[in-house]
Amino acid sequence: MTRHATIIGTGSYLPDTIMTNKDFERIVETSDEWIVSRTGIRERHVVSEGEATSDLAARAGRIAMERAGVKAEEIDMLYLGTTSPDYIMPSTACITQAKLGLKCPAVDLMAACSSFIYALQSGAAAIESGRADTVLVIGAEALTRLVDFTDRATCVLFGDGAGAVVLRASDEPGIQAVVLGADGTGAEQLNIPAGGSAVPMTVERLEARDQYVKMSGSEVFKFAVRIIPRATKEALAKSGHDLSELRWLIPHQANQRIIATVEERLGLDDERVYMNLDTTGNTSAASIPLAIDDLYTSGRLAPGDLLVLVGFGAGLTWGAAVVRWTMASPNREA
Ligand code: ACO
Repeated sequence: MTRHATIIGTGSYLPDTIMTNKDFERIVETSDEWIVSRTGIRERHVVSEGEATSDLAARAGRIAMERAGVKAEEIDMLYLGTTSPDYIMPSTACITQAKLGLKCPAVDLMAACSSFIYALQSGAAAIESGRADTVLVIGAEALTRLVDFTDRATCVLFGDGAGAVVLRASDEPGIQAVVLGADGTGAEQLNIPAGGSAVPMTVERLEARDQYVKMSGSEVFKFAVRIIPRATKEALAKSGHDLSELRWLIPHQANQRIIATVEERLGLDDERVYMNLDTTGNTSAASIPLAIDDLYTSGRLAPGDLLVLVGFGAGLTWGAAVVRWTMASPNREA
């Protein structure tokens, strides 16, 4: 019998504080009209004083474990995708592991907004190879801590949150295929210039605000609309499916115009392309698992549904996963 990995629990968490576009009108020279028309974003959740990425990760992870009905000691591995770790060292996965009372190995994967797909691939591979039976995969971000609230071109885009899935060994092929990619020649298109080993933090760097996200918006936009359709088609082909079988395309939630362009290029319609960025903003590694949990809890996923999860981000990186949904809708549970 071939060993597969399937999703047996989902969870998500958004911090309580909400920032609307009107709030940004008071901080930088912008308008609700500009932000909505260029991005589709209306509001986003932001962490509060004392709240970190690991807090959001642990909340989402706990919900996913409860829904899956798995205890802490059953989790064999924790993979956590993030671009906004609590610290450079130790890993946010280790801090989250302690908060969840897990005893398993734990590691961060940093592929920016593609981190969740990279982590999902690692979790599925561990299960398929027989090295793990149950894996917790989390995407979590507190990116608003790393954006420059004086830079209107980036600060309006991002939000905080976390999403998680529990993967378990199964004879049902849940995670059917994953395609990953990276192109480091585009590393400078989206980065945080200072604070690492290449450019250690100095007072001058702080004054230049180089501790914050810098982005060539239009270059990233062009990359996204090229890579999402390509990765989607490659992943579907690898799994032996085609677009006509797809129930939901779940793209990384960066920009409504990117998603609309992708939808058009793939010949899909709104009924099959998920979007929630109007209320979350771009939550980077968290956006895809947040979207899965939203679809699941609102009863819009049924066993047998074919999903493509597709992300892109700094690196440049990208990733797409074909998933056959196996969990019963929450309305039919009990
Ligand atoms: N409010 C008002 N005006 C603004 C704002 C703002 N918040 N931000 C930029 N502008 C201005 C610019 O200064 C510029 O003015 P100028 O013409 O006088 O120079 C004008 O608006 C147009 O700016 P553009 O950057 O050309 O605007 P564009 O239509 O490209 O939209 C955006 C910018 C939304 C950033 C878009 O390029 C985009 O979404 N890019 C992709 C970003 C993305 O997907 N990032 C995800 C990466 S995730 C990760 O890995 C962390």
